Amino acid sequence: MTTREECVELDAKDPLASLRSEFSLGDGELYLDGNSLGPISKSARAAVDRVMGEWQSELIRSWNLFGWMDTPLKLGDRIAPFIGANPGEIVVADTLTFAIAKLTLAALEQRPDRHVILTDVMNFHTDIYILEAVAQYAGRPVTVKTIDRNELAQHLNNDVALVELTHVDFRTGEALDVAEITQQVHEAGALVLWDFAHTTGALPVDVTSAKVDFAAGCGYKYLNAGPGSPAYMYVRKEWQDKVNNPLPGWLGHARPFDFEITYEATQGIRKFVTSSPSILALAALDGALEVFEKTDMTAIRKKSLALTDLFIKLVEERLPGEFTVVTPRDHAKRGSQVALAHSEAYGVVQALIRRGVTGDFRAPDIARFGFTPLYLRYVDVYDSVEQLVQVLNNGEHQADEFKVRNAVT
Ligand SMILES: Cc1ncc(COP(=O)(O)O)c(C=O)c1O
Repeated sequence: MTTREECVELDAKDPLASLRSEFSLGDGELYLDGNSLGPISKSARAAVDRVMGEWQSELIRSWNLFGWMDTPLKLGDRIAPFIGANPGEIVVADTLTFAIAKLTLAALEQRPDRHVILTDVMNFHTDIYILEAVAQYAGRPVTVKTIDRNELAQHLNNDVALVELTHVDFRTGEALDVAEITQQVHEAGALVLWDFAHTTGALPVDVTSAKVDFAAGCGYKYLNAGPGSPAYMYVRKEWQDKVNNPLPGWLGHARPFDFEITYEATQGIRKFVTSSPSILALAALDGALEVFEKTDMTAIRKKSLALTDLFIKLVEERLPGEFTVVTPRDHAKRGSQVALAHSEAYGVVQALIRRGVTGDFRAPDIARFGFTPLYLRYVDVYDSVEQLVQVLNNGEHQADEFKVRNAVT
């Protein structure tokens, strides 16, 4: 049996331990939901305050004085190391669903003789909705096929234009092999678009060595940049001269302040900017990234795996047979969350929230727990499982009030 003292010892040796003080989390806050909405960091708050001050004192002059127009590119370059991208390959703009829409249409234009988009039937629903919607604007018949991702090989043929997949499954936490799948897709002559919503800031990937064509991710999960934080779009350098932004706007124009009525795209990744950057939201991202710059993805990944291993071990030691651990044991196939299947998972999550442990529920039967190494301690994992034991021992999850679900689960 793993003891609380052992967890305290692990914290004492943890090279990332000091980063917790970058956040304002109370001691009793057991926050296992950074995979949905990361907490605010002191530096994110300070950065928003700073930009509010710029706006207050310098008004519209701030765009030039503080380089606001370049913020989407500068932040893109700071996100680049998380996914192994190069400077100039990422821009921060829009939100993730819109980013997927833009990149999908950009990709489809590069495979004009092909008519199929493949995606995972277990993909996050927004991905499927937006793929199906934008397929209708491709200028030719394009069908979206939702497939079992384990059967990708048998669906790849010379009519497939694009494969869109989410790297880490939002329900199960299973991580796919980006390099292997990208290669497989390319061998079939198709392009790939990865959704890195549950990847960015959680586990490293290397889009450069994997030769990924397009990718997108969001700022509000593991990057801790705040609710509704903008997305980012990654377009591999060699595609940038060839592809078009399917939703062109003035800020992707070569000369936005010439007010020309004919669109001429600017060079590079900036062409994927459509409209005015959300400067206050970008300020939060700017500040949030400062915390990451005190460490690196290798250290984050190492601790993430240790935390998820510990959680799985404790759940199995203390609650044998109660849950099915849906998340893969294999480190290579694991994101930074643990999904536990239980017939009363919604009640389990609600009862835990009441006890100060925040996770979330994903239908039909998953209690989902995210592990963010920047602020979680090993002892937090122990204490969370202790609360889980109490919930189940007392039958708190079976309370009538948990029979009706909240709007956000
Ligand atoms: C895998 C995945 N893709 C896309 C989205 C939607 O992103 P947005 O609301 O920023 O459009 C989410 C949201 O949680 C997600 O988990």
